[in-house]
Amino acid sequence: MSVGTVQPGVSRVIVAAALAFFAASLSARETRPFQDLWIPPLLTGTSFDLTLSASTKSFWAGATTKTLGYNGAPFWGPTLVFNAGDTVNLKVTNATAEATTVHWHGLHLPAVMDGGPHALIEPGATWTPSFTVMNRAATYWYHPHPHEATQKQLTYGAGGLILVKDPIEAALKLPRTYGVDDIPLVFTSRRFYADDQFSFEGDNDKYGDYLLANGTLDPQVSLPAQVVRLRILNAEVERGYVLGFSDNRTFHLIATDGGLVDKPVALTRLKLMVGERVELLVDLSAEKRGGFVNLMAYNARQPFGFPGGEPGRSRPNGGLLNDQDFRMLRINIAAPTAASVKDIPTTLTHNAFPTVDQVTQRRTIHVTRGNPKGEFAFDNASYDMHDTSRIQLVKLGAVEAWTITNSPVFGHAFHIHDVQFKIVERSDGPVADYEQGWKDSVYVPRAASVTFVARFDDFASDTDSFMYHCHMANHEDSGLMGEFMVAKDPAAIDLKSVAFRERHEHPITQNMLAAADRQALKTAPAFESSDLDGKALSLASLTEKKPLVLFFIEEHCPCSRDASPFLDAIQADFGDACTVVGVINAEAAEARGWVKAANCHYRVIADPNDAIITAYAAQRSVYTTLIAPGGKIAKTYPGYSAEMLTDLASRIVSLGAVPAKPFSFDAAPKKLTAGCPFIGGHSVDDRFGQ
Ligand code: C2O
Ligand code: CU
Repeated sequence: MSVGTVQPGVSRVIVAAALAFFAASLSARETRPFQDLWIPPLLTGTSFDLTLSASTKSFWAGATTKTLGYNGAPFWGPTLVFNAGDTVNLKVTNATAEATTVHWHGLHLPAVMDGGPHALIEPGATWTPSFTVMNRAATYWYHPHPHEATQKQLTYGAGGLILVKDPIEAALKLPRTYGVDDIPLVFTSRRFYADDQFSFEGDNDKYGDYLLANGTLDPQVSLPAQVVRLRILNAEVERGYVLGFSDNRTFHLIATDGGLVDKPVALTRLKLMVGERVELLVDLSAEKRGGFVNLMAYNARQPFGFPGGEPGRSRPNGGLLNDQDFRMLRINIAAPTAASVKDIPTTLTHNAFPTVDQVTQRRTIHVTRGNPKGEFAFDNASYDMHDTSRIQLVKLGAVEAWTITNSPVFGHAFHIHDVQFKIVERSDGPVADYEQGWKDSVYVPRAASVTFVARFDDFASDTDSFMYHCHMANHEDSGLMGEFMVAKDPAAIDLKSVAFRERHEHPITQNMLAAADRQALKTAPAFESSDLDGKALSLASLTEKKPLVLFFIEEHCPCSRDASPFLDAIQADFGDACTVVGVINAEAAEARGWVKAANCHYRVIADPNDAIITAYAAQRSVYTTLIAPGGKIAKTYPGYSAEMLTDLASRIVSLGAVPAKPFSFDAAPKKLTAGCPFIGGHSVDDRFGQ
């Protein structure tokens, strides 16, 4: 597609809409050549190294798009093969400039190994989880889970598949030659700016315009004329798929999210929502070589509330693929292989699901509205990482029935960590044949409710929790998420005093220190802003004669609140000789609430879009920059401690300010302590690009 006359930042949607206006069909789109499906490389064994880093991929001829990938992949990452019963050791390194986590979606493991939002891996840091593989053979996946930045990191391509193998599956006559008759298929879609970069504007980009299979645009694959196995993951941000084939053929489902089904289920259509996986057998043996069949999404004319059914072509709720039937994969028919599978087995396994009779505890979770912005939330409160009072407590070993009720607004894709569950009831009709197996993610249509039963076995903890959330990453990021803790004795736990280890450990890495040091003597980024009373605050006027201290605050981070009195003391001690200004990532009204709660007297700038925070490359709250009169950065500190505050005060003195009385910071932490990361508002160029 020629985009030469379009300014960067103008979405391809706009280009496409303009084309569509003049020519009823998007001819440029229809005539693009197929590209060969990329098959992610396999990693096997019991030790696995994963490194997330900035990468690039050419989706469009002659174009380069900035992406994220594990182990140098242009987009996405290698497929990990785990054997049930093995203890695996993983080494996950974050080579990006932004905190990340890796969550093992669908796996049953200790909460501390789960890789949820609390298990942040700092830029430059390595995380080394280890666990025993307790799951059944099926297709799982790994992906980032940092609170408020999951959608962004997924959008740029971070993720990978996990194939668990076990003896039951191994004994069956099933296709299992990876990339030949056993094909991994990760579907998602992206919208592109005219400069070929991914469009990422949070909720505005919930629906991509162009489908990708394993990161391949316009994908085609050659498959042998025999029974083949497709392992399909819906890795979209929000869109669901109604899967089927262009010739309306019958196919057989053999596995759901967490394991084989008892018997293959014959289907012609199958709904697959975000986060869900299926394994399908497709019999291509009657196909002519050289022929083809298309895997399709029959998404046109879905009832309202189906994600991706909204008509319209443009953001925030439309997209070029919305309310359309579209091709997902061209399958070209090739010669059968020597060891071809010719039959669909009649039985697969004998599952023993937990039953309603065994249930010892019921709970109901409502999808409602949360924060003042009215975003989706569970039980009227948006997810808050620091609020431990809302954690659901589950007794170790309990069989629980969870009912998820949805409001009439829109469909959601509910996902729970730790367990695989059995769906026992739907208010919108019978539980479909294709969701009768082990599940960890389930579609809850608007105004409907779903009940599932799960056993919470094996892993209890008083210091680490698991998550449940909508897997639509935009909803999850904006607060449709909650936590549960599996405890031996829930009654003995006082939630308010639960001390999660990650909440108090925000390590300061060498990278953070080096990045802060590199800022010294640079000209401080200019800003023209105002304090909460509307009085103008600009860098130029603040630094005209006096030193300036900028103190970066994350609204919800308790560490900012803890550190604030020390900055307040510095402002009071120096009086007029030095200015302290807090910069908070919140709207003015919320910032005023923060100031009141923190009882601080220095002036504060509301920076809701992280403009100043980004310009100063503040990675975490409790990040402090001292600027000399004239506007050069004198010193930048990630985190605070007694020693750091003493250093800050003495540098202010050396810049000419005179303290009123001697300082003491004895009450401050001995060890350098940082706050929560600012990960919401940064652009990929600032944080990932090198
Ligand atoms: Cu696939 Cu909580 O995630
Ligand atoms: Cu949702």
